[in-house]
Amino acid sequence: MSASQPLHARNTEAPPARHRIRLRINGAPYVLNVEPWVTLLDLLRDKLDITGPKKGCDHGQCGACTVLDGGERIVSCLTLAVMRDGAEITTVEGLAPATAPVAELHPLQQAFMRHDAFQCGYCTPGQICSAVGLINEGRARTLDDVRELMSGNVCRCGAYVQIARAVAEVALAGGQQQQEAGA
Ligand code: FES
Ligand code: FES
Repeated sequence: MSASQPLHARNTEAPPARHRIRLRINGAPYVLNVEPWVTLLDLLRDKLDITGPKKGCDHGQCGACTVLDGGERIVSCLTLAVMRDGAEITTVEGLAPATAPVAELHPLQQAFMRHDAFQCGYCTPGQICSAVGLINEGRARTLDDVRELMSGNVCRCGAYVQIARAVAEVALAGGQQQQEAGA
């Protein structure tokens, strides 16, 4: 638009249409009308008040926003909600009820508590969702594998040693890996 164009001519375009999408989030069905630019993270946090997924970098670099799509870990800050129409999304809230006693938490949540794997806890929901995805992938065989496959999840408190131990305890079957994890 040229600078000489009158001001009243600038806002004549219709706003982009919202898209109707269906999601299952933590087992509950949703039908939502979303603008095409809304990320899954913003949809969860700002529109649905599901605040387990955290906004750390908003650039796909820290993993704080990690959720599961059909059991596969994704960074929700780089995912447009409209791209996931029909998806089965799980956030940390979907792993166990908020009021669940410790014994009924997800095994990873229990392991994080046992190993003191969080300080401020900001990265923890993303770490735990990522670990669920890692287990579903079935590629981790050693503690080093766990460290490598969890490397997309940043912890600014530096709780990596405890996080790796907690994830390894659940993800790795067998005595040797368990010993490694506890070393
Ligand atoms: S907030 Fe999504 S990767 Fe950092
Ligand atoms: S526990 Fe604080 S960022 Fe990880």
